[in-house]
Amino acid sequence: MEKKNLDWENMGFSYMQTDKRYVANYKDGKWDDGALIDDANIVMNECAGVLQYSQSVFEGLKAYTTEDGHIVTFRPDLNASRMVDSAKRLEMPPFPEDRFVDAVAQVVKANAAYVPPYGSGATLYIRPYMFGINPVIGVKPADEYQFRIFATPVGPYFKGGAKPITICVSDFDRAAPHGTGHIKAGLNYAMSLHAIVTAHANGFDENMYLDSATRTKVEETGGANFIFVTKDNKVVTPHSSTILPSITRRSIMYVAEHYLGLEVEERDVYFDEVKDFAECGLCGTAAVISPVGKVVNHGEEICFPSGMEKMGPVTQKLYDTLTGIQMGHIEAPEGWIKVIE
Ligand code: PLP
Ligand code: COI
Repeated sequence: MEKKNLDWENMGFSYMQTDKRYVANYKDGKWDDGALIDDANIVMNECAGVLQYSQSVFEGLKAYTTEDGHIVTFRPDLNASRMVDSAKRLEMPPFPEDRFVDAVAQVVKANAAYVPPYGSGATLYIRPYMFGINPVIGVKPADEYQFRIFATPVGPYFKGGAKPITICVSDFDRAAPHGTGHIKAGLNYAMSLHAIVTAHANGFDENMYLDSATRTKVEETGGANFIFVTKDNKVVTPHSSTILPSITRRSIMYVAEHYLGLEVEERDVYFDEVKDFAECGLCGTAAVISPVGKVVNHGEEICFPSGMEKMGPVTQKLYDTLTGIQMGHIEAPEGWIKVIE
């Protein structure tokens, strides 16, 4: 298979149409067989559930080229099960988990020419999603759904790659107690758009959201979870029922404990203690691990000792180990890597 002639080294995090996508339809109470198709456009009724009441959920994962030339994905089974949780919360019929994992493999294989080469710094981003497609005018769930997966090659989520970023404490809230913050629903991202545009306009790369009930605890950003490192090298991540259970974060906590022998804690993290941490990072499929150099709260700056030039030493070790597992030069825990071809 010949690779596309793309500028792999200089890609941003943006959409590029690739050759094939997967589509399955849910009608009369069941999913059809699904298939790979060529058409990247979707035609739907003007009153489709997704258009009127935002009934949509999605996932994000990546395919990597390993050092020895295989194409692999990272823990796709966890994306499959998280999408089931998301679907149930929005009264959508779950897409079967084994079919999800198989469909991801089909899409990656069919677009293998777009999987960035090893060492390029780019990866193939895979976007499974599902939405209500039949007309809905009273507020209720749709009866018919479409599940799709497309793939697009991407570079780093934040411009500048691994350079530390500056974030601000948001005055807006991302998720309500007992709301939908713990699932990957499109609506969570729609309501974060004003907050991110505001943050960018004020010169910040991202928002730090606090818990909306008390505004005293750190939750997450618009598209990633937090990890912090204490001055005595403990890896700490916020525990909350209103943040998305990041697969990257769960993997990092495992790697910290079992590969690097570090102490780990998932617990309430109060904003007041952020100033005492040595390192801070954002973690997610798109963000990988993006170091945070500075947090600004209404003009008051918290500058981490790791600085604005490079990742802190523990964040760097976590990054190297996680990406080493994904790129195949560090042995993965059982079941983490699915070889596509
Ligand atoms: N938090 C939010 C709000 C996200 O959108 C994402 C991205 O998927 C994450 C965290 C990171 O999750 P994961 O590591 O599973 O990609
Ligand atoms: C991901 O990391 O896959 C996400 O969905 C985050 C999004 C902000 C791109």
